[in-house]
Amino acid sequence: MRVGVLASGTGSNLQALIDAGARGQLGPARLVVVGVNVPDCGALSRARGAGLATFVVEHRGQPSRDAFDQTLIAALQAHGVQLVVLAGFMRILTPAFLNAFPGRVINVHPSLLPAFPGVHGQAQAYRHGVKVTGCTVHFVEDGVDSGPIIAQIPVSVLDDDDEESLRLRILAEEHRLLPAVVRQIAEGRVTVAGRRVRIAPG
Ligand code: GAR
Repeated sequence: MRVGVLASGTGSNLQALIDAGARGQLGPARLVVVGVNVPDCGALSRARGAGLATFVVEHRGQPSRDAFDQTLIAALQAHGVQLVVLAGFMRILTPAFLNAFPGRVINVHPSLLPAFPGVHGQAQAYRHGVKVTGCTVHFVEDGVDSGPIIAQIPVSVLDDDDEESLRLRILAEEHRLLPAVVRQIAEGRVTVAGRRVRIAPG
């Protein structure tokens, strides 16, 4: 399964996918291209460092959201992408994008959705005072961090946590969760029935 990754930031989740692939832990999934919308982001350097094909589409340079998404679609399709992984990609995709990859777009988010969607999910949880938060990988549908939930890992909020220590512990779990889900999808073990996602044993 040909996987394209979209990212905007540091790219540590992308790195987790690259490392899992190098260790043979992605099953039949293969990273084929990485697209970013921030020209100097860490994700782009990590992708180049791993010898992956890359493309940059700056949303500011595009006349509309539709034009931005059409450019992304064309770039991903040019690489025969079958599964799109949003790994810290901080733009909301249009229905046209989702229709181009139906049921084939997943996102990693740093909270236990549906709690704390949007930006800074970790800080939102910390400031709310929850005792347990975590991370989620879900299918993307039209909406912010909505869509059927594939897998989650809980993370306890410790008494001596600050926002940064909590963010880092959640991030470490994201790095375990995202490659595992990519593998499960590539192995054909993930099925969706309405809102419920089932993962067949490996
Ligand atoms: C990750 O924590 C990811 O869950 C979050 O951005 C960070 C990217 O880190 N995504 C969202 O908040 C999406 N709503 P990375 O660039 O080091 O992978």
